Amino acid sequence: MADQENALPQDPTWPELKLPDLLHTDVVREVHATIENEWDPLQRSACQTAAGRALWKHLIHDPLADLLAGEAYLTSLYEKIKKDRINNAREVSGVILAVRTLWFDSQLEAVLNSFSGRGAQVVILGAGMDARAYRLSCLKESDVFEVDFPKVLQVKTTLLQAAMESTNEHQHLTQSAKSLTRVAVDIRDNDWLDKLQISGFVPEKNTIWLLEGILYYLSHSQAMQVLKIIAEKCVLTHTVLLADFMNKPTTLSSSILHFYSDWPDHLLPSLGFSHVKLSQIGDPDADFGLMHDPLNLFNKLRSLPRSVQHHPDDGTPCCRLYLVQASGSPNQTIP
Ligand SMILES: C[S@@+](CC[C@H](N)C(=O)[O-])C[C@H]1O[C@@H](n2cnc3c(N)ncnc32)[C@H](O)[C@@H]1O
Repeated sequence: MADQENALPQDPTWPELKLPDLLHTDVVREVHATIENEWDPLQRSACQTAAGRALWKHLIHDPLADLLAGEAYLTSLYEKIKKDRINNAREVSGVILAVRTLWFDSQLEAVLNSFSGRGAQVVILGAGMDARAYRLSCLKESDVFEVDFPKVLQVKTTLLQAAMESTNEHQHLTQSAKSLTRVAVDIRDNDWLDKLQISGFVPEKNTIWLLEGILYYLSHSQAMQVLKIIAEKCVLTHTVLLADFMNKPTTLSSSILHFYSDWPDHLLPSLGFSHVKLSQIGDPDADFGLMHDPLNLFNKLRSLPRSVQHHPDDGTPCCRLYLVQASGSPNQTIP
């Protein structure tokens, strides 16, 4: 093992893991211990994605991600990345997450630009440890709503409060969004939209819905219900949905993943969206310079028709992640 570690080339892209001092304070340690001991895997997935953003920091600017992820998830992903580098892996751990984050960031910015600086409501369902309200300046005219379980949002607030009180970290806590409201609900419940409205969401205002890493955790009927509620808003106002979908043979086959769609570009128009654009990892708008190897798993998948469910070379399931932008408005034109 020592020899292998010595074989790891110096690479400024992947410096040694350096945890911020704040992670070692009592308050923050206790909070992360609670996450480890009391949260279920679904809720803990919020910290895993934050760890991905923290370790891909050469591409993703998210200075709060280390704090929100916690030491355990940072260390675990760091070790995986290290192993991938030693093995010269074609796909370094976390690359899907990095591409996904960058795709959501770039699409969000492009949609907001199309509103000519007038801003919008941005609703992030299953926001977890998302820190876009602090890190994206394109949100400066927008009202952001972060929706997640009460327990997740409460812990997030405590961690951000700890950053606020720390001399080193408080600089990262300048809010970029015009306003930020946390809405503690379970989106499987029937009243989540009512609670969003009570919190200040206005159904008639232009809205961008961000569903990043959330739909597949819902059952088919719950996911369809959420998508229908969002699609219904197209008759009221300009509505944009940014979401990722897994296809049937899921990448992470696990008991917490349920909903899938092989053809989201057919599903969403049937619910009321008029424009749908679907991308796969490695497509020009979902590459970010990370998919240059033609033998990369994602490039191999993209070269196969989407109807092919098993790879002709080795019979392995074609696990796809679709990145989808859908929109609709009362007059079906962008205002
Ligand atoms: C994989 S994490 C993604 C978090 C964030 N969107 C990101 O990309 O970093 C999934 C998040 O969805 C939240 N979530 C899952 N089911 C939910 C539900 N029924 N209601 C509210 N939030 C939910 C979890 O608590 C978790 O924070």
